[in-house]
Amino acid sequence: MATILRDWSYRYQWLYDSISRLAALSVGGETNFRQLTLHGLTINSDTKILDLCCGSGQATRVLVKYSQNVVGLDASPLSLARARRNVPQAKYVEAFAEKMPFSENEFDLVHVSVALHEMESEQLQKILKEVYRVLKREGIFTLVDFHHPTNFLFKPPLWMFLWLFETKTAWRLLKTDLPQLLTQIGFQVQKQSLHAGGSIQVIQAKK
Ligand SMILES: C[S@@+](CC[C@H](N)C(=O)[O-])C[C@H]1O[C@@H](n2cnc3c(N)ncnc32)[C@H](O)[C@@H]1O
Repeated sequence: MATILRDWSYRYQWLYDSISRLAALSVGGETNFRQLTLHGLTINSDTKILDLCCGSGQATRVLVKYSQNVVGLDASPLSLARARRNVPQAKYVEAFAEKMPFSENEFDLVHVSVALHEMESEQLQKILKEVYRVLKREGIFTLVDFHHPTNFLFKPPLWMFLWLFETKTAWRLLKTDLPQLLTQIGFQVQKQSLHAGGSIQVIQAKK
C-alpha cells in the first residue's frame, strides 16, 4: 500500500507541508489542527515538553511558543536536520521512540502528532510504555492521529489519503482502541475528542 507520493512527501518538505495544510482544512486549517492537542492544558514557559516523532518540527514550532523547554525526538536524521533549521528554539534528540534516552519522570508533557499510525502493534505498545516511563507523575500525554470516521461522508477522503500516503499500520490504527490501550498501560484517559467526521482523534491522558 501507499504510493510514490509517500516517499516524495518525506523527501520534499514543501510537499509534506502542503499535504498537511490541505488535510488540516478538514478541521479548519493548520493553525487549528496544531492547537487540537493543547486545548485545556496549562503550559507555562518552564513546562518540560517532549515532541515525540517531531519530524521537521511542524508541531514543535507551536510548542516553543508556550515553553522554552521543548525537546524534539525523531529517528530520522534528515527530519531532525530540518527541525533544527526550522525551529532552533528547541533541543533535539535522534532516537527511537520505543527506546528513549531519557530517565524516568522527566517530562511534564509528551506530545505526539500524526506519528503513532506509523507503528507496528508491538512497537506501539513499547512506545506507549516508554511515554509512561518518561512522564512525571500526573504528567500529560497528548496525541492526535487518525480514527475510523463516524460520519460516512468522511470515509472516501480518509480512504483516499491512506491509500496515497500511508501503509498498513495506519489502517490498523483505525481498528485500535487507543484509550483502552492507554488505560491498560496505566494512564488515566481524561479526554478523547473526534474531529473531521470522526476521522481524527485527540486524546489527553494523565500518568
Ligand atoms: C508523519 S511524521 C509526523 C511529523 C510531525 N510530528 C507532524 O506533526 O507533522 C512521522 C514522524 O515519525 C518519525 N518516526 C517514525 N517511526 C519512529 C520511531 N520508531 N521513533 C522515532 N521517530 C519515528 C518519522 O521519522 C517521522 O518524522
